Amino acid sequence: TDDLFKNVISHAKEYGFVFQSSEIYDGLSAVYDYGQNGSELKNNIKTYWWKAMVQMNDNIVGIDSAIFMHPTIWKASGHVDGFSDPMIDNKDSKKRYRADQLLEDRIAKLDEEGKTSEAEELQLAMDNALKAEDLPRLRELIIEQSIKCPISGTANWTDVRQFNLMFSTQVGAIADESETIYLRPETAQGIFVNYLNVQKSGRMKIPFGIAQIGKAFRNEVIARQFIIRMREFEQMEMQFFVRPGTQREWFDKWKATRLKWHLALGTAEEKYRYHEHTKLAHYADAAYDIEFNFPFGFKEVEGIHSRTDFDLSQHEKFSRKKMQYFDPEVDPETGKPYGNYIPYVIETSIGLDRMFLLTLINAYEEEDLSTQEKQDSRTVLRLHPCLAPVKAAIFPLTKKDGLPEKAREIMDELKLNFNLQYEEKDAIGKRYRRQDAIGTPFCITVDHQTLEDNTVTIRHRDSMAQERVAAADLDRIIGDLVSW
Ligand code: GAP
Repeated sequence: TDDLFKNVISHAKEYGFVFQSSEIYDGLSAVYDYGQNGSELKNNIKTYWWKAMVQMNDNIVGIDSAIFMHPTIWKASGHVDGFSDPMIDNKDSKKRYRADQLLEDRIAKLDEEGKTSEAEELQLAMDNALKAEDLPRLRELIIEQSIKCPISGTANWTDVRQFNLMFSTQVGAIADESETIYLRPETAQGIFVNYLNVQKSGRMKIPFGIAQIGKAFRNEVIARQFIIRMREFEQMEMQFFVRPGTQREWFDKWKATRLKWHLALGTAEEKYRYHEHTKLAHYADAAYDIEFNFPFGFKEVEGIHSRTDFDLSQHEKFSRKKMQYFDPEVDPETGKPYGNYIPYVIETSIGLDRMFLLTLINAYEEEDLSTQEKQDSRTVLRLHPCLAPVKAAIFPLTKKDGLPEKAREIMDELKLNFNLQYEEKDAIGKRYRRQDAIGTPFCITVDHQTLEDNTVTIRHRDSMAQERVAAADLDRIIGDLVSW
């Protein structure tokens, strides 16, 4: 499985999906760029999410708020005081670690070795220390473990310190006038501070939702597992505003709805699981993760959080602006309108980059095509056609006899509707392989017969079957498979 993951990473680079940021300068840790195929795939994932959340629900609307926000927002939200990781340095290796991660790696190791009760004991001790924010106790546990089995060479550790994950910068050109602002660590706050603007201008009635896709930034102590943990990443978040007392019902609904969204792409159900949070964030009264079975184990892809009225109440307190909603609906119990209240919020928050990696890993297959006569194989991305970066590739069989011109002519008819690729280099078989490697559902070959009867050969990615169809039908054939 280690090999599989390594192969996916090098495939992602070789075929223009993901590059290390600033690669020619040896990269920037935990920052990545999306290439020509990666940005198409990423956009298609965004579209799939936006359609499912905004277009399909008439009580959910989308916004695009700024990354920079008033610094008091992060005081109100609790991020200035509470959004930090416990960190520890090894004095000998001079390496820095996240204390909880160090222990979690050790727990995984104990599990692997079959020492289940020891693993459970350590897990419990760590959870208790984290809950009580007992940093000396975390250090003790690390030292204990590194004596038993050196987790990083020695037992010579610094104290555990809290390290805030927000990036800060200065606004204003003159130092005196400058003010520290933060790069947002989540997109959610841009929704909270706009909720009444949207509600009023859109005449939204509770229950309603606001969705947003955008960048978020966290100064993660350690970079891990490719695009799983990045310092600059993208979130797709939706805050659903509900009447107090109904949050559990909506939480359960969104928890189920979001898993369905994942499964509708055709991913096997057993690759997913829910994970209930026992240690809740400062704002939550219930939280579940949706986890995917990556080659390195189950990892969180999305969180569904019941955030109570915490954020809106905090913003009311800090901004001194009313955050209440007037609910004109009549309460059947009292016979009176529900009236003014601060709504409760259910949040669904998915990491776009993690969804991207999940999609790539799930689609990646090294397929053995060997027959008795000869050995053969191909690497194919079995992406859902709606997500495929290129929907169809158009090949003139040869570079002469007017075939390239004819192929271009067919392409011109289709390219407004679909992202297409034109390729005339190399043998057809080689061109098929290159398209398989980026997940293109169709390859269309233009040959001499096309010049006579306007038919083409269409070859299907998954079955590799070929058929002859009229060029005039291509729009419908491709559309049937790749439309949402
Ligand atoms: N607004 C709630 C919130 O931000 P979170 O669990 O901290 O909750 C939500 O983040 C999702 O964002 C995660 O499930 C994960 O997919 C993604 N995410 C968080 N930190 C990330 C990072 N450093 N790199 C990539 N994705 C990240």
